[in-house]
Amino acid sequence: FPLPPQPTYPALQANVGFALLAFIGAVLSVPEVGEAFIAKGLKGWDQLKKGSNRNTGPWIPECLGLPCASLYLLLMMLFIPFPFSHIFQGTNGNGPGREAFPKGELTLYLSSLLSLLTATMLGFIDDLFDIRWRHKLPIPLIAAVPTLVVYYAEGGWTWVVLPESLGKLLSYLGFSGWEGTKSIDLGFLYYVYLALLPTFTTNSINIVAGVNGVEVTQAFIIALSVAFNDLLFLPIWPRWLLVLLGNVGNPDEGRMLSWAAGEVVKRHLMSLYFMVPLIGVCAGFLWHNWYPATAFPGDTFCYFTGMAFAAVAIQGHFSKTMILFFLPQIFNFILSCPQLFGLVECPRHRLPHFNPSTGLLTPSRVVFDKAPPFKTRITLEILELFGLTEIERTPVHEEPSKSGESKPKSGAKKPTRIVSASNLTILNYLLVVFGPMHEQTLCLALGAVQVASSVLAFGIRYGVGSLVYGG
Ligand code: UD1
Ligand code: MG
Repeated sequence: FPLPPQPTYPALQANVGFALLAFIGAVLSVPEVGEAFIAKGLKGWDQLKKGSNRNTGPWIPECLGLPCASLYLLLMMLFIPFPFSHIFQGTNGNGPGREAFPKGELTLYLSSLLSLLTATMLGFIDDLFDIRWRHKLPIPLIAAVPTLVVYYAEGGWTWVVLPESLGKLLSYLGFSGWEGTKSIDLGFLYYVYLALLPTFTTNSINIVAGVNGVEVTQAFIIALSVAFNDLLFLPIWPRWLLVLLGNVGNPDEGRMLSWAAGEVVKRHLMSLYFMVPLIGVCAGFLWHNWYPATAFPGDTFCYFTGMAFAAVAIQGHFSKTMILFFLPQIFNFILSCPQLFGLVECPRHRLPHFNPSTGLLTPSRVVFDKAPPFKTRITLEILELFGLTEIERTPVHEEPSKSGESKPKSGAKKPTRIVSASNLTILNYLLVVFGPMHEQTLCLALGAVQVASSVLAFGIRYGVGSLVYGG
């Protein structure tokens, strides 16, 4: 069938230009401001390097997410007129005219910027005052309020599509009225879920940390995945690909993949406007944060990138797809829960341990001076069963009996107690499974896991998507 002419996206082309500026800006500005950050006390010692010490350094400037976030926000502000350039032409009679200005889209854009600004500020406060994680967990909730209110004002979709198979299963199990149910309205609960999304996206990146480059690598790969997903919704794909995907014969959709339609295209364009410069700024900062790092991102970086993901997912109505791009972070969060919620002790730092004699990283450990309580023991033993932690035990000398003699039963297992266990993070887990690794290799391994999960995410979303998302 005849394909309509390929549409052009001048604002998107300009956006790619802004991404290049973000990349160059980050590459140039980070080393420029490093000294000033150290002078103000925003510095950290690289815990995984030979000769580095918590009292004497050498110091690496910390919190350089701040210049990155500032650069990004500045560029995103300068970019505001571009998506609306066709309206400005209207004032001299060529375009749709001022009265047709899409105020809704502008509000979406501005509220996302506001959420990003708030997240950056809160991240910076965290870097300055080192808030305990328990207290900082709900902070992004506040930062999400502008985005959520605009989501409400823009129609506030609170329905979730149900997989057909679930409807069938429920009616098979005897629940009447579910046959053929396509979607349900979660109402207020949906807002609770959306409000929790930024809390998750910001904190989950922040707790896969401590190895040079690892926070930025996560954000970089997630941003690339989101941008690729957005591109799938634009009518730009060549005919051979449509044939390959069995999508020819959709004259209404033209070059579009069948699931995309007008409004959806707009939302994904908006998401691209935020993601493409984010890719630029992440790549630019990675230049300095890659092993051996000369700059640390700080919590500011994790907060602002995490909020960018949450904002585009909420505004673009693809929060479930976004969650799929966070599979390694979900794994890390679930694995961390016993330590985050006090079942197992949580040291201030859980980053892997550096062995100066081999130059390799091994899992860091939580050490128990005395026998851990029952809840800790049972949690660790269950995790050990699944290979998720490595436990070290020591034989216990039995208390001598009252008569003064200990009577070891022949053949009985010698009693032991837990002395230490590897910290419950995905980075330590990778070291437990694959053995000691160089710091750069571990960052690459985490990057590979992130890429593999994105591939899996696309498979789930568009392959078995009909099962999970109802098509
Ligand atoms: C989170 C983790 C913590 C981990 C820390 C590492 C949880 C609950 N918190 O805490 O376990 O130890 O991140 O960032 O899981 N650093 C390096 N090399 C790097 C990056 C950081 O040695 O490549 C060290 C530096 O000493 C730096 C410090 O980590 O000063 C920054 O830690 P911070 O971001 O403040 O820790 P949290 O985010 O609170
Ligand atoms: Mg941090």
